[in-house]
Amino acid sequence: MIGKLNHVGVATPSIDESVKMYREVLGATSITDKWAMPEQGVWVCFVNLPNSQIELIEPYGESSPIHGFLAKNPKGGQHHICFEVEDIIAARDDMKARGATVLGEPRIGAHGTPVIFIHPKDMGGMLVELMETPKGDHH
Ligand code: CO
Repeated sequence: MIGKLNHVGVATPSIDESVKMYREVLGATSITDKWAMPEQGVWVCFVNLPNSQIELIEPYGESSPIHGFLAKNPKGGQHHICFEVEDIIAARDDMKARGATVLGEPRIGAHGTPVIFIHPKDMGGMLVELMETPKGDHH
């Protein structure tokens, strides 16, 4: 049911510092500007790779859901992995039917299409994001 790997989510205490590392150490050449997603409590930017993307997320506001992650991982680290699905509602219903814990309701993610998150306890310890494939977009 899962499709392409869309991105790997990486939490960081500073997107600016992380971008510098991706650019200067790893040699990434295509990196978006960062923007705020207040409803999700994050600043976000994407490092574009030939076959995928790295999503850098930094806390936005006091109630950001990634403060806890950064408290445990002060330098940041891999936070979630995102797979594409064709239909987010069907994916949510399938996940629930198969006993996985879906966190909240579908909401609009950083690519402008609906996403859901699946609790790591049902995903081998990994927070999984499922994202509806953008129509007509293959970045
Ligand atoms: Co993501």
